[in-house]
Amino acid sequence: MVRIAPSLLAADFLNLASEVDSVEKAGADILHIDVMDGLFVPNIAMGSNVVSALREHTSSELDVHLMIENPERYVADFCKAGADMLSVHVEATTHLHRTIQLIKSHQVKAGVVLNPATPASMLNYVIDDVDFVLVMTVNPGFGGQSFILKMLDKIKAVRRLIEASGREIDIEVDGGINAKTLPLCREAGATLFVAGSAIFNEQDRELAINRLKGI
Ligand code: DX5
Ligand code: ZN
Repeated sequence: MVRIAPSLLAADFLNLASEVDSVEKAGADILHIDVMDGLFVPNIAMGSNVVSALREHTSSELDVHLMIENPERYVADFCKAGADMLSVHVEATTHLHRTIQLIKSHQVKAGVVLNPATPASMLNYVIDDVDFVLVMTVNPGFGGQSFILKMLDKIKAVRRLIEASGREIDIEVDGGINAKTLPLCREAGATLFVAGSAIFNEQDRELAINRLKGI
């Protein structure tokens, strides 16, 4: 199954509500929200107030991707704001296991994100605890970058870890996802696909999402 999560980072912020409406009408399954602190990544984007505003506007699942240092400081804020899925980078939190439990204590799905240079083995001791894994297929911080082909090997390695753990959890991929790279990720074992520019740079959002879904 191919589920698409449009990344709102590529949306027109002045018209965020209608951008959300347009991708939902076009078949988006989940909305992906990128949070950046200017430290963990060299860019600043979207705080928990954006998540609360979206929560009031839509009943779609909100997938919040925290690209911030020591994300545990803001877990409660984003959960209260209405996140349904919340992911933190392994590289950004010292006590990853504790941070995962903290997210789950808010009844929110907990995800762990791996930067391109981070090995799949970082998940070894948390794989039984996480609700999904996000494999970055570009270096985080900006939309519109090129897919890093080597990440296909990592997706496969994460898939093997998940199979060995015996639970069925999503592998999400994020960065440079388009109609060409999506099928490669899918074959490698990814099940949830974030796409920013491949959707929001197109006038016809339905065509863009259908193309990604292979319809
Ligand atoms: C990158 C973000 C992505 C980004 C994807 O740091 O995490 O979600 O918006 O954008 P595209 O699909 O354009 O690579
Ligand atoms: Zn993202």
